Amino acid sequence: MPVYDVSNRSAIVTGGGSGIGRAVAQVLAASGASVLVADVVETAASAVVEEITAAGGTAAAFVGDVTDPAAIERMVAAAEAMAPLRIAVNNAGIGGESKPVGEYSDESWRRVIEVNLNGVFLGMRAQINAMVAHGGGAIVNMASVLGAVGIPNSSAYVTTKHALLGLTQNAALEYGEQGVRVTAVGPGFISTPLLDRNLSDDAKAALAAKHAMNRLGTPDEVAHLVAFLASDAATFITGSYHLVDGGYAAQ
Ligand code: NAI
Repeated sequence: MPVYDVSNRSAIVTGGGSGIGRAVAQVLAASGASVLVADVVETAASAVVEEITAAGGTAAAFVGDVTDPAAIERMVAAAEAMAPLRIAVNNAGIGGESKPVGEYSDESWRRVIEVNLNGVFLGMRAQINAMVAHGGGAIVNMASVLGAVGIPNSSAYVTTKHALLGLTQNAALEYGEQGVRVTAVGPGFISTPLLDRNLSDDAKAALAAKHAMNRLGTPDEVAHLVAFLASDAATFITGSYHLVDGGYAAQ
């Protein structure tokens, strides 16, 4: 059931083929947006489009890597072909290897920075120009509660999520008067394929215990915050960082 009005516009969701991005794509589509589900994995993007279409929504799949500037330009054009681009959720992200700083490899450091930070910058640059041309829009960047605190053995990931908060604030300052709102979301640990790939059941139970609610979050619980921030219900919210973390950062 639609909760937030985001009709008459298109929305890009990067990393929309899995986990949090999939849930965001579904909620935005249910709320009236035409959603471009962008992912490097074609089958994942197409499966989400099928789910949205079966539920009566409008969506198209886009296959491309957020680190490729040419793909980003094509992504914006594909969204604009559906409806004016007025929402972008820069959600694609990777975890990187699990090592302390002294043992962290160049290769993993560079790839995590490339996807989680440079990919968001490239996306925002193209998205902002399209939104300014339409008189405004909303960008939501997927940071993490690890945008505010660290966690051992994830230096590249933590660095990128902290950096996204600065990028979010800067773009909000630069484009506020032109109607482009830019916010960041900080989920606690959410049960998604990203976590399943990287953590054992014991590690997940230990992480759950770090949340006041003693459980992991669900992708839907993040998606509803994102849809609110992206919608016209949030027109005085920009430059800010919003936790959805089950109390993780409260201690
Ligand atoms: P996921 O691994 O389930 O989904 C990520 C999607 O992004 C995948 O479909 C993947 O194919 C796609 N992707 C990866 N690299 C890409 C690239 N270069 N270009 C285009 N698409 C790409 O991950 P999850 O858990 O849904 O995470 C989504 C975002 O939420 C990430 O930015 C992550 O850092 C953030 N996040 C996740 C948390 C969690 O506990 N799962 C907690 C806080 C933040």
